[in-house]
Amino acid sequence: MKRALITGITGQDGSYLTEILLDKGYEVHGVIRRSSSFNTKRIDHLYNQEELLDHRFFLHYGDLVDTSNLNRLLEKIEPDEIYNLAAQSHVKVSFEIPDYTAQVDALGTLRFLDAIRETGLKSTKFYQASTSELYGKVQEVPQTEKTPFYPRSPYAVAKLYGYWIIVNYREAYNIYASNGILFNHESPRRGETFVTRKITRAASRILIGTQDKLVLGNLSAKRDWGYAPEYCEGMWQILQHDKADDFVLATGETHTVREFVQHTFSKLGVELEWKGEGAKETGIVKSIDLERNKKVFAKKDLVNGITVGDTVVEVSPNYYRPTEVELLIGDSSKAEKELGWKAKTKFEDLVGIMADADFDLVARKGY
Ligand code: NAP
Ligand code: GDD
Repeated sequence: MKRALITGITGQDGSYLTEILLDKGYEVHGVIRRSSSFNTKRIDHLYNQEELLDHRFFLHYGDLVDTSNLNRLLEKIEPDEIYNLAAQSHVKVSFEIPDYTAQVDALGTLRFLDAIRETGLKSTKFYQASTSELYGKVQEVPQTEKTPFYPRSPYAVAKLYGYWIIVNYREAYNIYASNGILFNHESPRRGETFVTRKITRAASRILIGTQDKLVLGNLSAKRDWGYAPEYCEGMWQILQHDKADDFVLATGETHTVREFVQHTFSKLGVELEWKGEGAKETGIVKSIDLERNKKVFAKKDLVNGITVGDTVVEVSPNYYRPTEVELLIGDSSKAEKELGWKAKTKFEDLVGIMADADFDLVARKGY
């Protein structure tokens, strides 16, 4: 039985990857951080399965800033595959805590690689969660594995270190270490402060009347948004490749934040019109047709927060970033050719999956 060690197991990707690896018959070890309240809600459904707990699913306390802890974990577990997903992953927050972000996202990766070197685990394979944020102020459209990097945030600069230390340890010490350069990927498990989830959650709450407005930053930023479970399958495929290498995973389509908002409301039966520009731009309810979405229509007695003419979207410069990444669009033809990986879920379907899941949640819980 293969053994995998996952850092960041409590995050969006960690939870999907755990399901995928358990399904493939792996023994899965996850690193969790001590927290003053529960932080395992994305994996509780797995942790509560007794047959898994006995044999194949284990959680260990740890932190990427604690070198001795990483060494001990490697010596104890001797994993065949390591997926390093742990990170301070919020770009805007990285401007507030740049030092911590570097400690975790840059040096955390180095600590792990060094632990592999020191424990002499010659056949362990290492996956690094690299990111399309590396392209930042993009030098080429679309972005491929060969596009030069131009990071635009402390997060992206820290991940740039992570990227290159992987390449360096691969070349210097012959460690099997690969970068997955993943473009944005989303799901109903996405953290609530990332823009997609913020939008689908707010739109549902606005419909039901527990929130008045959705306040956002840059509506014109463009992202290449895919569906997270497919990207986590791609991480596994990257480590099954005969040699360590770096791969872009992306959909090849790009959309603005504004389009994401528009499609979310539309999916829930509400058409918006846009007025004004920049920080004065607003989204106003033009029409409401709940029958368009069966889930919403079935709960239409709960929909009482919205009227034609309401302003439901506003812009606040508080959400702007000191330096922004305006456009991302990836070309994953190398992954398609060498790994057989291709994104399947289209933008509108992704919006639908997330909007439906959040509407269900808000309708059930009332918030
Ligand atoms: P996420 O939901 O924010 O999860 C981050 C995980 O890292 C959480 O489990 C978190 O633990 C853990 N973590 C944070 N700091 C840690 C530390 N010091 N020591 C140990 N664990 C720590 O992120 P995600 O969306 O799943 O992304 C997974 C990885 O892929 C990240 O490295 C991210 O930067 C990268 N990435 C994501 C995307 C995307 O679109 N989602 C795209 C490209 C790359 P807690 O639960 O305790 O906070
Ligand atoms: N979070 C957030 N909140 N973003 C907003 C908002 C808002 O209220 N309003 C507009 N945006 C814009 C941001 O300025 C950015 O251009 C875009 O929406 C996407 O922001 P996020 O969803 O926070 O994601 P990100 O692209 O910055 O970073 C995510 O994707 C990266 C891969 O490209 C994270 O998951 C990173 O960890 C990941 O590396």
